[in-house]
Amino acid sequence: MQTNTNQVHNIPAIPIFLIGFMGSGKTFLGKQLAEKLQFPFFDVDLEIEKKSNMNVNDIFQHKGEKYFRDVESGILIDWNKNGIIATGGGIVISKINREFLTKKEHKVLWLNPPWEVIRSRIINSYRPIVLERTEDELFELWNKRTLLYKECADISCDARNLECLIDAVSNDQ
Ligand code: S3P
Repeated sequence: MQTNTNQVHNIPAIPIFLIGFMGSGKTFLGKQLAEKLQFPFFDVDLEIEKKSNMNVNDIFQHKGEKYFRDVESGILIDWNKNGIIATGGGIVISKINREFLTKKEHKVLWLNPPWEVIRSRIINSYRPIVLERTEDELFELWNKRTLLYKECADISCDARNLECLIDAVSNDQ
């Protein structure tokens, strides 16, 4: 893998994985971060959709969550491109994925806004994980996954805005 450095922020062009619950801004802010640093942007959900020739909702409906998780894990573990990589909120469920994320060759940035912010963004969305759960169940899932994100993260930020992500990755150098 080529490892150069962003000239302005002095951030090495290694893979920077963005983790966090649904609605934490991984894709929205991740794209902005990639543009700012002039790094390529990737989205694991999109890679899964390309590989399966189906969108995420159809995969859950027709192939099931296990199939989705297997493809997700395969993509993560074989990852070999530098840049900013938005992952899906459930990437940390699998132990193999968590072991991969805690390796040293890349960075893992956890986007961790407060529950109220997340709740307002996801509650009316059509994500399969949201559609099949009540609000209390989603809150419980958020609590449970918080521990797993913490376990995998090198750095974290409350994901208020782009500057907060830039600060998090810059201060880690
Ligand atoms: C999931 C989150 C989704 C997507 C899939 C499962 C999850 O990604 O991977 O619907 O289990 O939290 P986002 O976090 O980008 O919404």
